[in-house]
Parts: sequence; structure tokens; C-alpha cells
Amino acid sequence: MKKIAILTSGGDAPGMNAAIRAVVRTAIYSGLEVMGVQRGYSGLLNGELFAMDKTSVSDIIQRGGTILRTARCPEFKKEEVRQRAAKILKAYGVDALVVIGGDGSFMGAKLLSKLGIKTIGLPGTIDNDLAYTDFTIGFDTALNTVVDAINKIRDTSTSHERVSIIEVMGRDCGDIALHAGISGGAESIIVPEMKDFDKDALCRTILDGKNHGKMHNLIILSEGIGGAFELAKYVEELTGIETRATVLGHIQRGGSPSASDRVLASRLGAKAVEVLLSGETSKVIGIRDNKIIDQDIDEALAMESKFDEDLYRVAEILSR
Ligand code: ADP
Ligand code: F6P
Repeated sequence: MKKIAILTSGGDAPGMNAAIRAVVRTAIYSGLEVMGVQRGYSGLLNGELFAMDKTSVSDIIQRGGTILRTARCPEFKKEEVRQRAAKILKAYGVDALVVIGGDGSFMGAKLLSKLGIKTIGLPGTIDNDLAYTDFTIGFDTALNTVVDAINKIRDTSTSHERVSIIEVMGRDCGDIALHAGISGGAESIIVPEMKDFDKDALCRTILDGKNHGKMHNLIILSEGIGGAFELAKYVEELTGIETRATVLGHIQRGGSPSASDRVLASRLGAKAVEVLLSGETSKVIGIRDNKIIDQDIDEALAMESKFDEDLYRVAEILSR
């Protein structure tokens, strides 16, 4: 192996830059050449490749977003489009591609590996929705952003003795809501994994809290289960308590990565190059029980969701 390329794909996440830096620096240290690909699979198809050296990744460890830009590229699902991508990589002499993204991006990487390009995936998404790894790059930073917002909303919610519903991202995964809810001391946490969410039970809990002297009710709602404004209307009508909704939105995707995300990204990025150098392909890198691991992409994508029911139960007990 002589030359590798790297791209970021899907939604960006804080810490992607730290991961790019780790891959580039480890690869160069190991005697490899590195090319950056701009704008994910879309940029690859447009031939947006450029040579990177050690200085290409200077001064980026602290920056949110991704210096390589990112994109969603629906046409990459077509075999003939991926064949063209593989030909472009071969034309540039690239032997292997490191893809930083979520499960969709990994699927693209896996299919590309069948066309003679070695591929490795690094988990970059705020959603923490990849079952094979305990944490994804960006999750910790997003979590801290959400907790900061909850603290602020708590102040005004207490002053007005209101119910506040805070909608957070996560797609179909409730990890941001669960971890932010427990860290922010929320009264209720509503996640897509709760198949039996009952709006009336939530209203009963709110009224119980009020009758026991609670000054406010903070409810963390994961986007995957419904809209905050609709729920706020229902709660206000039933309980008679003033209720406000806040949708945190893309603020959760930005900002300087936390120390924890920087360390994670650095460890995962270094391991990706090691795994490539050992000749392996179609692997994803992750962290389990604080150990950096690699796993076959197919196996990783087939793993069942790892929603932490014990933590959810603890959050319920602590909020009563
Ligand atoms: P994420 O990687 O964060 O899950 P997406 O699901 O949007 O984000 O996927 C990112 C990109 O990965 C897509 O725009 C597409 O280019 C590629 N991709 C997703 N699913 C597939 C698939 N089934 N086959 C090939 N490429 C895919
Ligand atoms: O996957 C990351 C994520 O931020 C999800 O939490 C959210 O549902 C989605 O991306 C938003 O995507 P977009 O930035 O395309 O609106």
C-alpha cells in the first residue's frame, strides 16, 4: 500500500477534523501518501482530490465541522456510479479510502471495497446510533451543547414555573436525549426506543410534580418520536400549565469538539491507518469498554441497537 485517500460524508460532527488530522499524520508517519477528497462521495465523483501533507491538518484539531466539507450523494447507491468512483480512485493511484461518517456512508464504503478499493470507516455522527461502538465522534460535544442549553432553559422555566419541552437531534436513536436528559436533570425523557410513549401519562407526571412542589418541568424529546410544538400544545391544553417548546436544531452539530471527542477521534484515526497497513479492508473502527476495536463492516451494520435501558431507568428514578 502506497497511497490512501480520506473523505467525510453524511451529517458533519465535531471532531471530524481531529479524526482527519489523526489519519493524515499517522499515514505520513508510516510512509504513506495521502489525498483528501472534498465533499464526500459527490466530490469523489467530481474528481475533487488533492494531495495532503502534515501541514494540511495544522490548526484544525479545535475546529468544528469538517475541513474536507461533506455531502449526501444519493446516486452513490447505484452500482455504475460506484464503479466510476473506483476508477477515479485508481486513476489517482489510491489503494485505500478512509470514510468518516455514519451507517449510510459505511454502506457506500463497503460496496466500494467490492470494486478493488480497500475501505475503512470511522464513526462520525452526533447521533451515537452505531451499535458496534460505545461512542461516535461528535456525540460528546453535541451532548455538552444540549446540556448547556438545558441549563439556560431551566433558569427561565423556573422563573415562570412553566413546562419546557426541548427537542434534540438523534434521528431514530434516543442517546442524545437520554444522556442530555440525565445530565441536565430533566423531569422526563422521551425517546424513539420507547414504543409505548403515552402523552396522557406524561401529563399526569407533570401534574403530580406540580402538586409536589416542582417549580418547572423539563422534558427532553428526541426528534425521532414527534414534534415539540405539537406536544407542547397538547400538554398545555391538558394540564393548564404554560408550556414552551424549543427545537435546538443544528446548534447541536457545531462548535469546538470536546476534549473527549478529540481524544476519541485521535485514537480511532490512528487505528484506521494501522488496520489498513495490516492489509485489511471493509472494516470499521470503534471503541468498546474503552478499547479501540475494529470490526467487519457487514457485522457492524447488522448489530442491534444498544439503547441503554438501565440508564433510562436510573433517569426515571432520579427525576421523581
Ligand atoms: P450517514 O453516513 O451519516 O448515515 P447518510 O445516510 O445520509 O449519512 O449517508 C451518507 C451517504 O452515504 C449518502 O448520501 C450516500 O452517498 C452514501 N450511502 C448511503 N446509503 C448507501 C447505500 N445503501 N449504498 C451506497 N451508498 C450509500
Ligand atoms: O445524523 C446527524 C443529524 O444531525 C441528525 O441528528 C438529524 O436528524 C439530521 O442529521 C439532520 O440532517 P440535515 O443536516 O441534513 O438537516
